[in-house]
Amino acid sequence: MNSQSTDMSDIPDTAEAVVQAITSRRSVRGFLPRHVDAQLLRRILAIAAAAPSGSNIQPWKVHVATGSMRDELSAALHAAHESGVATAREYEYYPMAWRSPYIERRRACGWGLYGALGIKKGEREATARQHGRNYLFFDAPVVLIFTIDNDLQKGSWLDYGMFLENIMVAARGFGLHTCPQAALANYPDIVKRLLGIDAKQTLVCGMAIGYEDPTCAANQFRTTRIDLDEFVTFHE
Ligand SMILES: Cc1cc2nc3c(=O)[nH]c(=O)nc-3n(C[C@H](O)[C@H](O)[C@H](O)COP(=O)(O)O)c2cc1C
Repeated sequence: MNSQSTDMSDIPDTAEAVVQAITSRRSVRGFLPRHVDAQLLRRILAIAAAAPSGSNIQPWKVHVATGSMRDELSAALHAAHESGVATAREYEYYPMAWRSPYIERRRACGWGLYGALGIKKGEREATARQHGRNYLFFDAPVVLIFTIDNDLQKGSWLDYGMFLENIMVAARGFGLHTCPQAALANYPDIVKRLLGIDAKQTLVCGMAIGYEDPTCAANQFRTTRIDLDEFVTFHE
């Protein structure tokens, strides 16, 4: 696997900021308590909404939780996680049966992260505790919650991914970091109840957003990517 680094030597000036924003995005799992300006959040979300969508239907809906709502949401989700009682997800994120090559990539990702934290294979409690940090939003002061009307189709979920990536990339331009969080979709009932989201919405995922804590061990972890020729076929 290649590292994520991109050779910047032959990149035109006009592309450099874009490439830098894209390649400096990574999932940050430890944030500083530093306040995130509400106007900046609005700006990032407005920029992200420039994402394309089939027939321009713009299927995204975002709830921004800060302050006491963020804390209440975190407490309820973390307690649910600690209790070990699962609620029904509204959609499956992962395949029902894992197989090669995805299982190996998933393992490499998990072991890499837990390895950076000094958590060894089989240390269940420590693993669960780290997973539980999802519900503390990795200490980020802001969490974004994303929903979609539940009668929309796969195409709209494709559009949604572009919107999500735009948020993460735009955030980098303003010095912020993010962590997308499918883990929040494990508890749709709790999230919907606290945020007053109606039953016709599907909870897509959450996203922690804020300023990176560079001293956090989890943030020392870097993922890799497979070589280009493993996923691209050129035809002439
Ligand atoms: C839609 C989506 C949901 C994700 N959910 C979680 C999550 O719940 N918790 C987490 O720690 N990371 C989550 N991730 C982060 C992935 O693990 C991460 O993107 C992947 O390992 C690649 O690493 P990078 O983002 O640092 O490049 C999610 C990523 C995506 C795109």
